[in-house]
Order: sequence, then structure tokens, then C-alpha cells
Amino acid sequence: MSSKSTYFIANWKMNGSPKDLIQIKNLDFFIKNRFKKHNKLIVYCPPQPLITYFAKKIRSKNIKFGSQDVSNNNFAFGAFTGEVSSHILKNSGAEYVIIGHSEKRLAGDNYNTIKQKINNANQNKLKIIFCIGESLKENKNKNSLLILKKQILASLEKGLNFKNILFAYEPVWSIGTGIIPSQSYLIKVFSELKKILIRHYSVKSPKLLYGGSVNAQNIQSLKMIPNCNGYLIGGASLTSKNFIDIIQNYYS
Ligand code: 13P
Repeated sequence: MSSKSTYFIANWKMNGSPKDLIQIKNLDFFIKNRFKKHNKLIVYCPPQPLITYFAKKIRSKNIKFGSQDVSNNNFAFGAFTGEVSSHILKNSGAEYVIIGHSEKRLAGDNYNTIKQKINNANQNKLKIIFCIGESLKENKNKNSLLILKKQILASLEKGLNFKNILFAYEPVWSIGTGIIPSQSYLIKVFSELKKILIRHYSVKSPKLLYGGSVNAQNIQSLKMIPNCNGYLIGGASLTSKNFIDIIQNYYS
């Protein structure tokens, strides 16, 4: 394994309650005691109402917090019922934000709203976990790379602080299905993503993550993908047991 930081990002989606602080505490205990020497960063993205509570209770250099979404309105405050600005997120203890997740795209986020969200987060110095991924149909039609390129070019402006952007490749057909892409497919996608980011944005070493059905078993093969800087994990991040097993198997 390389000496660079590996990201393990937990996307809790619409799950969790204050009682689940224990899951994060367990993980904190384990990584402090068992994985001290490894260079890793854990980011928990619980539902927004839990961020401040968790962030206040967990003070760890290896565990950070993020939001699963942000408003596309470019205001710190205002009459936008139900919206949460980057500014509010930042003050609530979030350092990261997931933008462009396929579940949000399905719920109505388009290239433009995603672009606005990215710009707002960038202005407020939130670190962005930018999700891209093709559907099963697009994959079957061999359009994956075209779609990924479109998702990137349509939502990322040139002047962004690319040091603060993590690119999470999450094929929609892999999310929650138990199916992961083959190693050779992932190697190809990651190397193409690197080319796109160099060509269009001069980003030489983008941080690339994989997401979709990551678990303690398949991490053994996923960890072999060159250029992969970490994982965005849904279901298997909800309990500390499963999450720790993933980290443990990654470093074994
Ligand atoms: P699963 O790990 O549950 O497949 O979810 C992946 C995901 O959507 C993370 O953002």
C-alpha cells in the first residue's frame, strides 16, 4: 500500500440517530489502538441534524464529518425553507460535503444545480466529495466513459480549488446491489478519469475514490486498484463492526 492517506468515507444516507454515536466511538477506539501507524482519514456523513452533535463529541485527527448535500443557493442565510447553505454547514462542524450522488440526481439534481452546489461549497472551503457514475443501461450500451466525462465537464468550472475535491466513481448499478465492477474495468475507468482531469483542468494527481457495495470481502480486490485513494461506503458503514472489518482487511 502507498504511504498516501486512504479515505474511508461513510455515507449514512437516511439512517442514524444520536444513539449511533457509539458506532463512531467504537471506530475511533479501534483506529487509535489498532491502526495507528496507517495513514487514513475517516469521514462520516450522517444526516445533517446529527453532524454538530457527533462533531462535538468526537475530537479525532483521523475522523472528520461531512454533509450528504448542500443548498445550491449562493447565500449564507435567507428565505429558503428546508435549505442548508455551505456557510451553515461549515459552522455546524462539517468539513466535507457529498455532491452529485446518483440518489440526489434521481431526486432532481441536474448538471447546473450540481455546478452551483460545487461552487458554493468551494467558496466556503468545504471539501467536496463529487460523485459521478453511469446507470446500468449506459454501462450496457458502453457509454460509461462518455457519461462520466459529461458529468465532470458539465459541473466543474476551471477555477475551482481542485485540492479540495475528491472524485467518487459510483456506478449506479453497483450501489446497494452487491455487485462491483471487475478490477480491469475499474483500472480502465480510473486511468481515463485521470486523463480527463489532466486534459481539462490540469489536475495532475486527482484523488479518486470508488463507491458501490464496498464490504469487508470485496475490499481485498478493490484495494488492488492503482490510483484509488479510498472508498465511499453506504450500508457497510452503518455499524462499527462492518466498517472496522473493511479497514482491517484493507490493511491486512
Ligand atoms: P452502498 O455501499 O450501500 O452500495 O452505497 C454506496 C453509496 O451510495 C455511497 O455513497
